[in-house]
Amino acid sequence: MECKKINLEIIDSTNDYAKAHIQEFDPNAITLITADEQSKGRGRFNRPWYSPKNKNIYATYCFRLEKQTKHLSALSHLLSLSFCVVLKDLGFSPYIKWPNDIYLNGKKAAGVLSEVFFHQDYVGCILGIGINVNMNIDDLANIDTKATSLHLESGSFFDREKLTEELTKSFIIHLETFKKEGFYPFHNEFECLLLYKGQEVTVETDGRIIKGILHSTTVEGTLNIYLEDNEIVNITSGTLRKT
Ligand code: BTN
Repeated sequence: MECKKINLEIIDSTNDYAKAHIQEFDPNAITLITADEQSKGRGRFNRPWYSPKNKNIYATYCFRLEKQTKHLSALSHLLSLSFCVVLKDLGFSPYIKWPNDIYLNGKKAAGVLSEVFFHQDYVGCILGIGINVNMNIDDLANIDTKATSLHLESGSFFDREKLTEELTKSFIIHLETFKKEGFYPFHNEFECLLLYKGQEVTVETDGRIIKGILHSTTVEGTLNIYLEDNEIVNITSGTLRKT
């Protein structure tokens, strides 16, 4: 799939830009929108995403998939997996905190925001990723949660453009396979990267708190939690924490 690139100096949110302009994009290509800064970057559950100028990657991949594509709910995992492949090539040891937070040494370094729209004859996909790249410890103090950056974990500075290019290459290769076979070929690798697997966790989902052991994920990308009474509960959306 061809990738058409749009780079913006500043925008409210690359995901919102994609949503507003999706009708103008080539329906047969991936459109990649990147920004040097976001004034209203957002994460899951509308949490703010700290997006200072020229420090990090703020990127959104926008494309169409056929309606009959298998395991669409696992699509966002494909992007976190693609980024983990890039990180491993750079010598990092990433983990994925379900659903899509990328962790390095117990701290969050990147997150994915996926928005999927069902139309009569196609599915519109907007997949955003925010990667903390060159932020230093003072920059990171602006974030509430335990966050880190590639710079903080390695001491090196990274070329944001090159990194985006590597991620895009990895994502396009994975997407081609996903279009034909769904998430099956990736499920095992995803499962191997799961943070807290086999450990006691708490999941907040639809206002409910569920405590149990992180058991596994399904090929649809949902989470299985093993409860005290030996039952397994399946979770499609929520926030996971270590108990
Ligand atoms: C999360 O972890 O909650 C998801 C964070 C996603 C942030 C990225 S930055 C690029 C794109 N534009 C946004 O406004 N959000 C995503």
